[in-house]
Amino acid sequence: MLLEKKTELVKIDDPENHPCEIARAAEILQKGGLVAFPTETVYGLGANGLNPAATASIFAAKGRPQDNPLIVHIAVPSQMEALAREIPHSAWKLAERFWPGPLTMILKKRPVVPDVTSGGLDTVAIRLPSHPVARALIAKSGVPVAAPSANLSGSPSPTTAQHCVKDLTGRVDMILDGGRCGVGVESTVITLTGELPVVLRPGFVTPEELEEVLGKVLVDPAVTRQLEQGRQAASPGMKYKHYAPAARVVLLLGTTQQFCRYVNQKAQTEPGVFALGFGPEQQDLTVPFERLGETGEDQAARLFDCLRRLDERGAKTVYARCPEPKGVGLAVYNRLIRAAGFTLVELSAAGLA
Ligand code: TXA
Ligand code: MG
Repeated sequence: MLLEKKTELVKIDDPENHPCEIARAAEILQKGGLVAFPTETVYGLGANGLNPAATASIFAAKGRPQDNPLIVHIAVPSQMEALAREIPHSAWKLAERFWPGPLTMILKKRPVVPDVTSGGLDTVAIRLPSHPVARALIAKSGVPVAAPSANLSGSPSPTTAQHCVKDLTGRVDMILDGGRCGVGVESTVITLTGELPVVLRPGFVTPEELEEVLGKVLVDPAVTRQLEQGRQAASPGMKYKHYAPAARVVLLLGTTQQFCRYVNQKAQTEPGVFALGFGPEQQDLTVPFERLGETGEDQAARLFDCLRRLDERGAKTVYARCPEPKGVGLAVYNRLIRAAGFTLVELSAAGLA
């Protein structure tokens, strides 16, 4: 793709203080252009979700495979009816509990949603974000806004406007800078099109919280394991190597002590070794370090920024502490195990206990 667009960077704290900027961004969307904007999860790369040419240009700007469908963002729950058909009662219950917020629902789509937007599927992903800038933009544009994460396909998702600037300058018309995203990992994706609800991508809304509203909720096996050869992905996003920094990432399962010993030993023979840990590892390591934090929430908020920084610092191999796949930690584990191409070393099994 030619880097031909003049990309305007606009700072917005509170959208109420910037009605003109929101109006200009909304006008770009109405005219078929591209606007990167903050959400509570990660930055999104928005276009009019009902305009096939506009959503096609999202794929071109990101270098995204055509069969990977986009999430359509709405301003009020009732907008679901214009996009989806046969909406089950469970969708309204989830909307009441978790919207606005980091939850995406897969429903059967209406013909008004173009095939380009839904990646040729008969379903559509819908989300109502809580970030004030996102909400103001979607409401002002008056259209459902299709928006994947605003990164180049395959690189870590953007959690600051600077990440978007780095990936998308020359490829989009405007980037709205609303500061750092609070959640830090993409929304939880749940499909309501089958007999039982299934989580296709874990996020800040956990399976336990979803079960409080829905009763039994399944978690797709591809959330934690490599898709078996020949098995069809329930969500096209599952089959791509996602969230990957340029460095090789290896997940290590074990105690702080086992982790430090293993990494220090590796650093004696391997060049460019970096460590990604929870915090306490730092004092016992001989290699450069990035800190994720101790809780699932902290780890989610910092993950993508850490992965990008590791590349900037010139890491060749990143040994990462394995997060506990529980609560929000399940989302962190899901992103990291993909960044690692499913390479996980059990340290006690490695004979270093
Ligand atoms: O938090 C988020 O969800 C962010 C912000 C911008 O809202 N968006 C985001 O979009 O992460 P994206 O495109 O990077 O991820 C969307 C995921 C992909 O894995 C895609 O395959 C899946 O949702 N998806 C979208 N539509 C689907 C559908 N109809 N059926 C199954 N999976 C779908
Ligand atoms: Mg993405």
